Amino acid sequence: MIKVITYGTFDLFHEGHYKLLQRAKQLGDYLIVGVTTEEYDQARGKLNVKDSLLTRIENVKKTGFADEIIVEESQGQKFRDIKKYNIDIFTVGSDWIGSFDYLKDYCKVIYLDRTKNISSTMLRIQVEPIQRIGIIGTGRIANRFVPEAALVSGVNARGVYNPNLKSAKLFANKWGIDAYEDIEEFYQASDIVYIASPHGSHYSYVKQALEHGKHVLCEKPLCFSKEQAKELFRYAKDKGLILFEGIKTAYCPGFAKLIGIACSGIIGSIRGVEACFTKLESNSKRELGDMTYGGSFIELGSYCMLPILKLFGYDYEEVRFDSIKNENGIDLYTKVCIRYPNGLATATCGLGVKSEGKLLISGTEGYIVVEAPWWKTSYFEVHHENPSDIERFSERFLGDGLRYEVCDLLSKIGGDTRNDFKLTRSDSETMAGIMEQFLAEREGRRMNP
Ligand code: CTP
Repeated sequence: MIKVITYGTFDLFHEGHYKLLQRAKQLGDYLIVGVTTEEYDQARGKLNVKDSLLTRIENVKKTGFADEIIVEESQGQKFRDIKKYNIDIFTVGSDWIGSFDYLKDYCKVIYLDRTKNISSTMLRIQVEPIQRIGIIGTGRIANRFVPEAALVSGVNARGVYNPNLKSAKLFANKWGIDAYEDIEEFYQASDIVYIASPHGSHYSYVKQALEHGKHVLCEKPLCFSKEQAKELFRYAKDKGLILFEGIKTAYCPGFAKLIGIACSGIIGSIRGVEACFTKLESNSKRELGDMTYGGSFIELGSYCMLPILKLFGYDYEEVRFDSIKNENGIDLYTKVCIRYPNGLATATCGLGVKSEGKLLISGTEGYIVVEAPWWKTSYFEVHHENPSDIERFSERFLGDGLRYEVCDLLSKIGGDTRNDFKLTRSDSETMAGIMEQFLAEREGRRMNP
């Protein structure tokens, strides 16, 4: 009996898939089809797959060509499957020519001609027209955003607005997009607005973009008052628009895995969360130059509050702030202590003060440690009383990681609510409330030293 194996995502099942499976079956007597998991697709950079794994398996099954369907979860699995299932022929479409030649030592490798003019990517675009992204702001993060967004099929960075037209033009030339002087024209040419302007302008731009009927992805911090955050989310909901706060950690697969594992009881009941993020920056930079919205906690606090709120929730009893400030009253180093009925959390932020950027989650039966850069979560360890008893977990974090939030935003616009848990409206509102309290105390102390 000749055994054949093939793999694919088989998203939005189409004629190309059907013909590939038909020909694969004709190559032998028994066909095994490997269907990729969502996690594996994400890890290899294939974002924005529409159908669930179950639907994709069901569609492969319906063709009647597969004698057996397996799930492909990770890189390196093909080699193991070939051994495990005693495979004679490995086959995939001709778009992969050369990629699997390394398997030739173990079985025959056949690249079948790809069916012309059809692909899942094409269908995704037909199902949901390309969303045009307009960018407000031209700083460092906006420059990272454009190449990341380019990796997500279904969106396209098209235009940029900056009240300083010269900066907008420089940015536009660099990325081959349009610069706008007139913000009305900018909104007309955008479906989604990505806001990466100075912190103090976030609230008004978010509001304006929503009023123009646009979905919004706003860099953290979204705004500096709980009431304002509530108002923005309420407005977006009423208008049927999506508003996302861009805290990249929240959307990356490793962080979702970390939270899932921490909440599974693996370290018993969680009693402590300590998150630290520090950067060495020169004083001239925006972070310390902005007298109202500069400083270490405003700049980095969103990251540190994220695991705290995800693990302990919103019903804290007390928040205390302590900072070391520069001569302008801007905090260089801040510790925030949040007390919960059954747990203690600290967020430590530094600009121009360096510390070990670690995330430590302590429980009644062990602890989880995520080393720096934990905010780009890719590896973590679970420890117990016995020091040699360590469980290790890893997940891919690709590039600058902004692709994940763009991908989730796009899915949400398409009506997919599966990822809603990653960063909720309550998370953002609570963070805005804590920032509000911090700023009030900082102001108060500055006024009455
Ligand atoms: N395939 C094919 N002809 C097409 C499309 C896909 O023969 N027009 C083959 C691929 O070469 C692969 C299998 O079908 O062997 C599964 O491909 P998959 O990547 O799931 O489909 P694509 O349509 O290529 O998906 P995407 O656009 O997301 O890359």
